Amino acid sequence: MNAPRVLIADLPAHAGRQVELAGWLYNIRSKGSIRFLQLRDGSGRVQGVAVKDECDPESFAALPTLKMEASLLVRGEVRADDRAPSGVELGVHAVTVVHNPVDDYPIAKKEHGIDFLLEHRHLWLRSTRQEAMLRVRARTATSMRRFFDDRGFVHVDTPILTGSIGESAGTLFSLPYFDLGDAHLAQTGQLYLEAACAALGRVYNFGPTFRAEKSKTRRHLTEFWMLEAEVAFLDNRGNLDLQEELVCAVAADVVANCEPELRTLGRDLEPLHAVQPPFPRLDYGDAVARLQAAGSSIAWGQDLGADDETTLSQAHQQPVFVVNYPRAVKAFYMKRNPDDARTVLCADLLAPEGYGEIVGGSQREDDHQLLSARIREARLPEEAYRWYLDLRRFGSVVHSGFGIGLERTVAWLTGTHHVRESAPFPRTMGRIYP
Ligand code: 4AD
Ligand code: MG
Repeated sequence: MNAPRVLIADLPAHAGRQVELAGWLYNIRSKGSIRFLQLRDGSGRVQGVAVKDECDPESFAALPTLKMEASLLVRGEVRADDRAPSGVELGVHAVTVVHNPVDDYPIAKKEHGIDFLLEHRHLWLRSTRQEAMLRVRARTATSMRRFFDDRGFVHVDTPILTGSIGESAGTLFSLPYFDLGDAHLAQTGQLYLEAACAALGRVYNFGPTFRAEKSKTRRHLTEFWMLEAEVAFLDNRGNLDLQEELVCAVAADVVANCEPELRTLGRDLEPLHAVQPPFPRLDYGDAVARLQAAGSSIAWGQDLGADDETTLSQAHQQPVFVVNYPRAVKAFYMKRNPDDARTVLCADLLAPEGYGEIVGGSQREDDHQLLSARIREARLPEEAYRWYLDLRRFGSVVHSGFGIGLERTVAWLTGTHHVRESAPFPRTMGRIYP
């Protein structure tokens, strides 16, 4: 009889019928003359129960030879079962072995160290927890894009190979580019988005960005995905409102669509339900004073350290904005604060529960003279920024934007300590394999 091929996720709709599953065996055990097969196919997990009298004899005889991660076609009857997490189990009638590994699967049930797991990332992805992470990551990316699509932003792709510098010269990956000297992997698409925003008004990009940062923290990758938005005629305050709306929408959407995955990951959902506007807005100077009172060695004029961010983000239930940093610790393009020339109109958004910065944004310097002075002051190659300065020569307007890091957002939403688990193949200072 020809049984229809069905995804594990769709099994409950086929209760009482014959189906075929295509998937992998992640565990098998015997109890008397019964074999219990744990099967997964990417859409879900289900238990197959093979009883000698009900199973084709050749298939039944092959079961003891199966290794972990054997790929199989399994035919049988879907049976409703209240005790099963998926609500069903499969009474196995026949098994076709697609591929039975010769070797033992390296990832066992026992605890492995993080280095071992990262070295086997290509296989580790198959585990329940990592599968859930990948799903939450995919949903987070979708909900970020939808937020902007629903509001009339135009998705504009910005280049990865760039001649000019984005954030800081110290953390650029360079590569030889024909006869034109060095090209750099994009640290940000922002400067190109500013050009697109003068054409389309409200734009965003979403893609990989690169930082040759010699940082071995729980928050740093050398390759990460960032969604950046840029809006014409928007000031810094409006920029904060937009970020707040985005982060609330993404948190709510991910909780609404990924509750089973978040539970698999052991995420306490309470703090995510609590993410509601308005987020506290803390002036940089006040943040420094507060940190000093809490024992930090930070002085006015310094960037917040990793511990400082943790301290501030543990103090609030909501994400918190730290606004108007000293201009010396921020990128050259940020708008000078008219009320205090030592600072710029910008904000970092710190996620709660100790996660720290997930968004960085600012109002942009729209004055041609001030911007070119900042480029010189930062000792950047002026020639490379000629096109960027043109944007201030032809219809310059107040405009603002920000970038939200995907891996850091996913680490926060899933309650995962280190960003390396929220990237499918994380790139860090010490790892480029697999
Ligand atoms: O604060 P950043 O450096 O801001 C920019 O690149 C601006 N050009 C964005 C803009 O205004 N259009 O980076 C933005 C976000 C951070 O808040 C963080 O979430 C993430 O990108 N990020 C990193 N994520 C992982 N590893 C790293 N090394 C990261 N550096 C930044
Ligand atoms: Mg930043």
